[in-house]
Amino acid sequence: MGIEMTQEVPQHVGIIMDGNGRWAKRRGKPRLHGHRNGVINVRRVLEEAKVLGVPYVTLFAFSVENWSRPPLEVRGLMALLREFLRRETRNMVKDGIRLRVIGDFGGLPPKVQAILRESIEATKHNDERHLSLALNYGSRAETIEAVKKYVKLAQSGEANPDELDWETFSDLLYTADLPDPDLIIRTSGENRLSNFLLLQGAYAEIYMTPVLWPEFDEREFRKAVESYGQRERRFGKTGEQVRSEQPIPEEAPC
Ligand code: IPE
Ligand code: IPE
Ligand code: MG
Repeated sequence: MGIEMTQEVPQHVGIIMDGNGRWAKRRGKPRLHGHRNGVINVRRVLEEAKVLGVPYVTLFAFSVENWSRPPLEVRGLMALLREFLRRETRNMVKDGIRLRVIGDFGGLPPKVQAILRESIEATKHNDERHLSLALNYGSRAETIEAVKKYVKLAQSGEANPDELDWETFSDLLYTADLPDPDLIIRTSGENRLSNFLLLQGAYAEIYMTPVLWPEFDEREFRKAVESYGQRERRFGKTGEQVRSEQPIPEEAPC
């Protein structure tokens, strides 16, 4: 009876918010219209994460590779990000959400950096819930940066390469103070990770859905979390081993 044993809520959900452009195109609207509606959707998903008790949410909002989009779209995305932060910071403070950024912060436009700094500062004492925005983020760039930091530590004698393990290395990633994602959601029907949390998501459950991001509402988020609850995570063990470790539920649901 695997299902009721694993009705767990993921502690950390990462979302590749994809499909804004196609959503707009289907309506005969410019891509930015899709991005605007995608931003509106973020609040709905955060609200549902609160209801379901998911403490960590990480949103892939802008990749290192997204700079190669048309300049007008990039400018529009940055403007929407600033708008989102201006509007949502107060809500985050009130809702106990701490904001973080993962990605190459210094490579973002100065105005975006400034407002992000304000929001991060305003929410830094919150510790109940955590929103991380992956901005100017790419797993490969993150890994290279961590390697460079490690090499410097090794060269200065602060680290011994013979003792390097995952724990030490993961502390050098942007996600150092975040748990690994348990569930990674990708919307819009694309079956790829597009350079998102490749190392941290080594054992994440993946949920792919054809729903485009602006339509991925609270019901869709709940469906993804429920799907996670029905999976058996084995981390290399056998199913029998995992099941024998599970506490027996007091009352079997009917
Ligand atoms: C995701 O939607 C938003 C970002 C990548 C910033 P897209 O803009 O990629 O939408 P599609 O994939 O073109 O439909
Ligand atoms: C991934 O979406 C990046 C974000 C959601 C921010 P893309 O639309 O950029 O990914 P690809 O290019 O289809 O893989
Ligand atoms: Mg896309």
